Amino acid sequence: MLGDRSGANIHLPKGLFVTGTDTGVGKTVVAAMLALGLRARYWKPIQSGLDEETDTQFVKRVTGLSDAYFAEERFRLTAPLSPHASAALDGLDIRVRDFALPAALPEGKIVVEGAGGLLVPLNSTQLLIDLIDHLGLPVILVTRTSLGTINHTLLSIEQLRQRSIPIVGVIMNGLENKINHEAIEHYGKVSVLGVVDRVDPIDSDALQAMFDKIFS
Ligand SMILES: Nc1ncnc2c1ncn2[C@@H]1O[C@H](COP(=O)(O)OP(=O)(O)OP(=O)(O)O)[C@@H](O)[C@H]1O
Ligand SMILES: [Mg+2]
Repeated sequence: MLGDRSGANIHLPKGLFVTGTDTGVGKTVVAAMLALGLRARYWKPIQSGLDEETDTQFVKRVTGLSDAYFAEERFRLTAPLSPHASAALDGLDIRVRDFALPAALPEGKIVVEGAGGLLVPLNSTQLLIDLIDHLGLPVILVTRTSLGTINHTLLSIEQLRQRSIPIVGVIMNGLENKINHEAIEHYGKVSVLGVVDRVDPIDSDALQAMFDKIFS
């Protein structure tokens, strides 16, 4: 059952929205891999927390891609909290209609990274999934490989299907877990595009190798 869907057969659209089952699940690492492998522009529309290295700075550092590959964040929020709370502390009001997809590079692709998971609030009425809908991009869902991931992944898939948001596939981050991998494909009726091993250090060679393993 595993390994029967080669990444080479996956048609990758022009724009991708990388979301995940949780915060810290590996969205930035996967988005960096995609930006490097596809030579795509990277955009983090909402950055919560400015004291540590931001996601855009991380992707820039580990991919070595030039500044042209990075679009500016639409909201740079000070506190590392859910966007609705962080924006309120900064006296800002995030509205989904305020976001427009930045232009892609001539090569064409753009990789957008969300904040947290799908039902993270942006304001008192809108959630991150509303932003995905507004941008009109298909989704790559990043999930953990470990125990608990089946439930989180299936709940996320259900939300995306309810909104008719296309799912390109799931990328699982961590040590391969055959039971969880197969359950996600079976119950979720999605393709697990690949499993990303832990890498150390995270640099452009490691990210390119990760990309090649999944997509060639
Ligand atoms: N495959 C991996 N190998 C090594 N380190 C990893 C891997 N995946 C994630 N990490 C590390 O785990 C941490 C969380 O990953 P990451 O920042 O990609 O999560 P995220 O989903 O983007 O989080 P956020 O919701 O804050 O944007 C980071 O320090 C990252 O470098
Ligand atoms: Mg991130």
